[in-house]
Amino acid sequence: MATRENVWDEVEVRGAFPALAQRDHGVVRLYADAPGGTQVAGRVLERMRESLIEHCANDGGQFRTSQLTDEKLQHAHAVGATFLGAKSSHEVVYGLNTTTLAFHFSRMLAREWQAGDEILVSRMDHDANVAPWLIAAEERGVTVRWLDFDSQTYQYRYDTLSSLITPRTRLVSCNHASNFLGTINDVARIVAAAKAVGAVTVVDAVQSSPHFLMDVEAIGCDILWTSPYKYFGPHAGLAFIRRELADRLTPLKVRPCANTMPYKHSPGTPSFEAQLGTVGAIEHMAWLGERFGGALAQDSLRQRLACGYTAAIAHETALSVRFLTALAALPSIKLFGISDPLAVAGRVPTFSMQVGGLAAVEVAQHFAAHNIFVWSGSFYAYEIAGVLGVRETGVVRIGFAHYNTLGEVDAIIAILHQLLPNG
Ligand SMILES: Cc1ncc(COP(=O)(O)O)c(C=O)c1O
Repeated sequence: MATRENVWDEVEVRGAFPALAQRDHGVVRLYADAPGGTQVAGRVLERMRESLIEHCANDGGQFRTSQLTDEKLQHAHAVGATFLGAKSSHEVVYGLNTTTLAFHFSRMLAREWQAGDEILVSRMDHDANVAPWLIAAEERGVTVRWLDFDSQTYQYRYDTLSSLITPRTRLVSCNHASNFLGTINDVARIVAAAKAVGAVTVVDAVQSSPHFLMDVEAIGCDILWTSPYKYFGPHAGLAFIRRELADRLTPLKVRPCANTMPYKHSPGTPSFEAQLGTVGAIEHMAWLGERFGGALAQDSLRQRLACGYTAAIAHETALSVRFLTALAALPSIKLFGISDPLAVAGRVPTFSMQVGGLAAVEVAQHFAAHNIFVWSGSFYAYEIAGVLGVRETGVVRIGFAHYNTLGEVDAIIAILHQLLPNG
């Protein structure tokens, strides 16, 4: 049972994000752009500041700042492993972002492919988890197969997996939560089907990791991508690479660089400050666990994270239910994604829509005139936009994070009513 101090306090939560206090010409900002990138928690700034002031040096030296960098680098990998549910910090790779990590690993993996092999990619993915595989497949003469989604239910066509995955399948990549539709996918099922033929499995968790706690062991995948700037941290990429795969792959590295993890697969000198900023983002989620999820300071980091996410999910569920319930009174809005308020457990709070016959960019401009930040376009979800026929027109995307409030949802709904006076 929630104790008094465990009750979600949106003022306190928002106080943890310095950017939320910003105003433009006296007008508060309403950030409904979370799927594109979230606001940064204060702990992130503290960690990055500390990194840049106390140990601004490359690792590997004999002097104080360099040795501190070594120490913090090891710490950032250990914290990253706990966050992902990985067994070891040797399964963690930091990079510039998910896109460059995907290109980096696709080059290494493709060396194992032969002409006539097959890979399976999905039509629900951001192009960062599609294009690198397509390019590598073309270079190696490998056949590309596609896992489609149903454009009525917005779910993967799981029924086609058994015909798409064959003994020649070398790689299966899929999406955990769509940055366009919001659907949460049963990636463990896809991974299991791929593992049955020995394929390497890749899961894009860039949009799921801000909303629920990753568990790479439960998913069973070989690679999992996240981008800390989508979960309250700095611009960076944080990936899980299963130990056996990390050991097996011939690294793309400069010759003097160590051949052991975490250095082996690091694409060049990392942003140490971004690694520490990511630690700060993870600490923020753990703080939520202590403050609102019933965790104790002495609980393990994983336990505090689990409690933090549970508390955030409860709040985000309330936001989604409020939003979808209100949307039902606006029939001229076409939502691409699960719309039933009773089914919000199957989606993240990312809502893409056509607003009557209005141009998406004009709707986004109208919101911007009220200092409300929403996205228009198709957000590199290139295949989804193609399937839905909105590559040219784009859609409006409204997305929430745990720092948003019910009042903000109401303000957005009020603008939609303004735009659509007849519903
Ligand atoms: C689902 C998904 N995958 C991958 C990416 C690309 O991530 P990055 O910007 O870190 O390259 C994004 C970015 O929006 C995304 O939403």
